[in-house]
Amino acid sequence: MSIFQSYKLGDLALNNRIVMAPMTRCRALDNVPNNLMAEYYAQRASAGLIISEGTSPSINGLGYARIPGAYSPLQIEGWKKVADAVHSKNGKFFVQLMHCGRIVGAENLPEAGEVLAPSAVKAAGEMFTDTNGMVPHVTPKAMSLEDIIQTQQEFVDSAKALVNRAGVDGVELHAANGYLLDQFLNPKSNIREDDYGGDFKNRARFVLELSKKVVAAIGKGKVGIRISPYGAMNDVDYDYEDLVDLYSYLASELRQIGIAYIHIVDHSGSMGAPNFKTDIKRTIKLHFQDTIITGGDVNSVDDAEKVISNGYDLVYIGRPFISNPDLVQKFLDRKTLKDPNPDLFYTSGKEGYTDY
Ligand SMILES: Cc1cc2nc3c(=O)[nH]c(=O)nc-3n(C[C@H](O)[C@H](O)[C@H](O)COP(=O)(O)O)c2cc1C
Repeated sequence: MSIFQSYKLGDLALNNRIVMAPMTRCRALDNVPNNLMAEYYAQRASAGLIISEGTSPSINGLGYARIPGAYSPLQIEGWKKVADAVHSKNGKFFVQLMHCGRIVGAENLPEAGEVLAPSAVKAAGEMFTDTNGMVPHVTPKAMSLEDIIQTQQEFVDSAKALVNRAGVDGVELHAANGYLLDQFLNPKSNIREDDYGGDFKNRARFVLELSKKVVAAIGKGKVGIRISPYGAMNDVDYDYEDLVDLYSYLASELRQIGIAYIHIVDHSGSMGAPNFKTDIKRTIKLHFQDTIITGGDVNSVDDAEKVISNGYDLVYIGRPFISNPDLVQKFLDRKTLKDPNPDLFYTSGKEGYTDY
């Protein structure tokens, strides 16, 4: 098996097994995808699959400055331009739906936005805002049952508009890295006492209900999910008693629902996360039995082939794609990769974005 072989993912035939990882790049002025973003993604269309930067399905989910949304007609029009640009280069494109929940700089939210999370537990840490620089997170409002239903509906509406009107190939539900969905899964951010909190089955309820609803709306072949067991980002617990039970249950239930893939973040050894304490990736594969995307710190053909030879199906690559739009060709030619400039990861112009 090689990373250069094609792969059938849900409804799609991917040209290779290399996935461009979702990366927030903060170029969406006024939270609307634009021509510059279309150019950026089209430059990287030789990836087997591109997963977009985190994109908010709700006015309440815009935690960061200049991240795109997918809840207004203008935003959906913007995504259509991006999807068309990627498709014209024979690429495939999923949009990652990311609701930031309590990970927010209040100044980043439009006036009508509300900071929502499973429980009124403030996250430690700070967030960059264009108006006031770094600001502490705020204490969120604990979501009512109405908020839960409303938020799930926002994901459904976004997914439908993205697939039916913008023509994207599918959506990825961001349940990793301490954002809203992960805030439900994690016992540090979820201290609810109703059916959505407590034991692992209850903590998984929001994510599973949401997955079912999105699948019913756009079809199971068009839905993936990203998770980060043992993840340490954004003030969640990275090790707790029922972690293995939680992710085993989640994987089995997602198998029943029939989504296209589970995308497992592996930040062990880098990006501040501890090493996995168990064989959790293998456990998840065992319970899910379908496509697993994983990677992390993949910087060469050999690194990428190792992910596949370890029994996973697709390999995600993040930072190297920023500075090597032609990464697949460079891998084929075994050329040295260029290093990205982290100072330009989240700035607003084309520098460090489309000029590599
Ligand atoms: C600039 C930047 C932005 C990121 N934004 C997101 C995001 O929006 N959603 C997400 O799931 N992960 C995000 N990540 C994490 C990456 O998807 C990936 O897991 C991480 O970069 C590790 O992979 P790598 O070693 O190949 O870079 C981001 C990473 C970087 C460097």
